Amino acid sequence: MLEIDLAKYKKYDQPGPRYTSYPTAPQFTEIFTHEDFLDEIVKTNYGENLPNLSLYFHLPYCDTLCFFCGCNMIITRNRDRVKKYVDYIKKEIDLIRSYLLPDRKVTQLHWGGGTPTHLDPDEIADLASFIQTSFQFRNDDSGGSENGCEIDPRGLTKAHLEALRYNGFNRISMGVQDFNEIVQKAVNRIQPEDITRQTVEWVRELGFQSINLDLIYGLPFQSVETFADTVDKIINISPDRIAVFNYAHVPWLKKHMALIHAEDLPAPEVKLNILKMTIEKLTSAGYIFIGMDHFAKPDDELAIALREKNLYRNFQGYSTNADADLYAMGITGISQLQKIYAQNYKTEKEYYDALDNERIPTVKGYKLTEDDTIRRYVIMRLMCNFELDFSGVEEKFGINFKDYFAWGLNNLKEMQADELVNVDGNKLEVTDMGRLLIRNIAMNFDGYIERKEDKAKYSRTM
Ligand SMILES: C[S@@+](CC[C@H](N)C(=O)[O-])C[C@H]1O[C@@H](n2cnc3c(N)ncnc32)[C@H](O)[C@@H]1O
Ligand code: SF4
Repeated sequence: MLEIDLAKYKKYDQPGPRYTSYPTAPQFTEIFTHEDFLDEIVKTNYGENLPNLSLYFHLPYCDTLCFFCGCNMIITRNRDRVKKYVDYIKKEIDLIRSYLLPDRKVTQLHWGGGTPTHLDPDEIADLASFIQTSFQFRNDDSGGSENGCEIDPRGLTKAHLEALRYNGFNRISMGVQDFNEIVQKAVNRIQPEDITRQTVEWVRELGFQSINLDLIYGLPFQSVETFADTVDKIINISPDRIAVFNYAHVPWLKKHMALIHAEDLPAPEVKLNILKMTIEKLTSAGYIFIGMDHFAKPDDELAIALREKNLYRNFQGYSTNADADLYAMGITGISQLQKIYAQNYKTEKEYYDALDNERIPTVKGYKLTEDDTIRRYVIMRLMCNFELDFSGVEEKFGINFKDYFAWGLNNLKEMQADELVNVDGNKLEVTDMGRLLIRNIAMNFDGYIERKEDKAKYSRTM
């Protein structure tokens, strides 16, 4: 059982990136244009082993505002606005597809939001079948494509799920957050337990392969006791995967978060105890702690990938999909090819204007330097494997690890004394406690932090 000494670790509660990319999004710049993106797309069509494709579609609309929401979402009930957006996403699909060799295979599809099931069942079927006919999806001995959609059970009907299932989706991820009614009221998200349970039943009846449930800790009025009740109910529902996100209260970035009163939030010690209790309960119930905020049953692909050391990390969190090129469509979407990141416009108007001009709707991006590539490799291996073999990095990139990362390795001495890592010879191992502070450990290999060039305001790590 994990022993957490709060006094010892409080000093690590500082702002830090979540490393869904490296460099992180605040480094992206408008010097990188749609033309740079296009050049890189064309280059990816050459070579012997063409990377597979991972497709992400951002569907930003929601019915009502959850006060804690940190996602890129738009609250609307205007159906024409939604219909127009779907028409433009199809334009973007046509444009991107026109630059890719037709035989490249899709191995992963994800609809995220906002709330993709804000689309009605007909709109879902229409867009999903358009995507299926626009690209070739992998369907061979190495398995089919993992096609997942985020859903919100509030306002959802079985017909929404049928539209997803009959048009290629095999995974569902659903927001629960917290079952406690006082918490739900304080964050403006009333979601009675029975609709969550009903939705899970439909998902299972329709034969989806996997279901993930999202929880958030750190919300107003949560205590160890109230959240333990939520975790027990989740264990009883028995989803394949569970995400337990740390609520980041950043009202200076997301104005609506000011609707949550800071004095109602649990203190950092309480939050850490909630996390400790959650890890203990979920691991005792047989779930494997994958890292950061994710848990999975031992036979789930994520847990298998963790064991076999081929877990990956991208903008959707942990993934089993090695080295696929990620194309993100819709407003705010971030695409990731081997050497670049490219982000789409954030407003519908700018996004539509670009597509009306047959232009890929890139607003900014980033081209990785050699140094970024080395550091990305190190940070992603740490975030996914929780260990690092220095000689492997030396061979891959032709560097002397201890010289190259002298600053970070020096910082790690204190972390070693605090039992977060073990550095022994050419090997770094993250301890169980270190897994909870993996962002802090990874920051020691971040060149922007080392060079003090990182001015982003990140959420706190604990
Ligand atoms: C796009 S939503 C999921 C689908 C749907 N919109 C819903 O809320 O049910 C993605 C997830 O992000 C998490 N999330 C949103 N805002 C957050 C925040 N500020 N801090 C931590 N997690 C957050 C929630 O758990 C949420 O389920
Ligand atoms: S948490 Fe989900 S439903 Fe709530 S506002 Fe954010 S995206 Fe919409």
